[in-house]
Amino acid sequence: MRIDGKEYRTIWYENNIVKIINQTKLPHKFTVKELKTVKEVVRAIKTMEVRGAPLIGGTAAYGIVLAAQQNHNLEFIKKSAEELIQSRPTAINLRWAVDRMMKKLSGINSDQILDMALKEAKEICDEDVKFCENIGINGLKIIEEIYNKKKSTVNILTHCNAGWLATINWGTATSPIYHAHKKGIPVHVWVDETRPRNQGANLTSYELNEEEISNTIIADNTGGILMQRGEVDMCIVGTDRTLSNGDVCNKIGTYLKALAAYDNNIPFYVALPSSTIDWDIKDSKNIPIEERNSDELSFVEGIDENNEIKKVLIYPNKSKALNLAFDVTPAKYVTGLITEKGIAKASYDGLQKLFK
Ligand code: MRU
Repeated sequence: MRIDGKEYRTIWYENNIVKIINQTKLPHKFTVKELKTVKEVVRAIKTMEVRGAPLIGGTAAYGIVLAAQQNHNLEFIKKSAEELIQSRPTAINLRWAVDRMMKKLSGINSDQILDMALKEAKEICDEDVKFCENIGINGLKIIEEIYNKKKSTVNILTHCNAGWLATINWGTATSPIYHAHKKGIPVHVWVDETRPRNQGANLTSYELNEEEISNTIIADNTGGILMQRGEVDMCIVGTDRTLSNGDVCNKIGTYLKALAAYDNNIPFYVALPSSTIDWDIKDSKNIPIEERNSDELSFVEGIDENNEIKKVLIYPNKSKALNLAFDVTPAKYVTGLITEKGIAKASYDGLQKLFK
């Protein structure tokens, strides 16, 4: 997708170096960061310089490439794989990508390991682009149907950033929106700010602006009244892990938005590539929910009059704060799962029909 009119992917490999867009500086500064070692990749994932389930997966795959570049020894690569998997707990794409890389590398001669790792990491990323594009083509049908009935701008609410910045390209939740826009369907996006890290305000709104898609940032608590007023036609969100029974784990606050949509009869869709499906965990209580540093709540970051990024404390300094990063939306509140293979019912049978 575009930034300043120039096409980018969120990650690429050039001259033995992995390059990423540093998302912690957006929207104020667009910077490309170079990652040269697997430790730097682990750090980039932990500090959310890269984030979003599919992009975390793609970055981890390139982490294995850098490990192989540093040392062809399989034991070193295995240890690096473990460190990568531990870097963030909730997005299943991370383990999925690392496992896929390690499966490819097992039994390979050490002189071929790097070539094989590079080929597989590229394939994981290219596949994500294709899958996200297909999510867009499948999700477009839903937007088109609403437009054909309504004959005026389709208002879509989204939470967090499940845009192209969270994937390799296109995004998951945003891909149907980009496809609709390209087809000339008028769309407007209500962008949940998404406290505490503000991925909606800082990233989703930024990338929609770059693609010239009309959008309005709202505080996380505003979606309910907009739904009651008939100003939301549908919701589309992403997911960090969706269970085979259709329960959806996503950025904290998603569940409350799904409840409000359900109460107002508004379709609530979740867009995901199959790499985000967890076929193993059966009960959502067993999904590891990341608890992040409470500083992310008590400090906010912005730009000052000298164009410098600054952090300021906004809570009483003696107050405690709890920073759970994800929640689970039970399948019964999900209208459908928009995947690369089609739209599935959020249920075991629905997913089985498309994927098994
Ligand atoms: O903590 P983050 O920013 O990595 O969380 C990201 C989200 O919750 C996204 O909505 C989700 O990963 C889907 S990404 C296509």
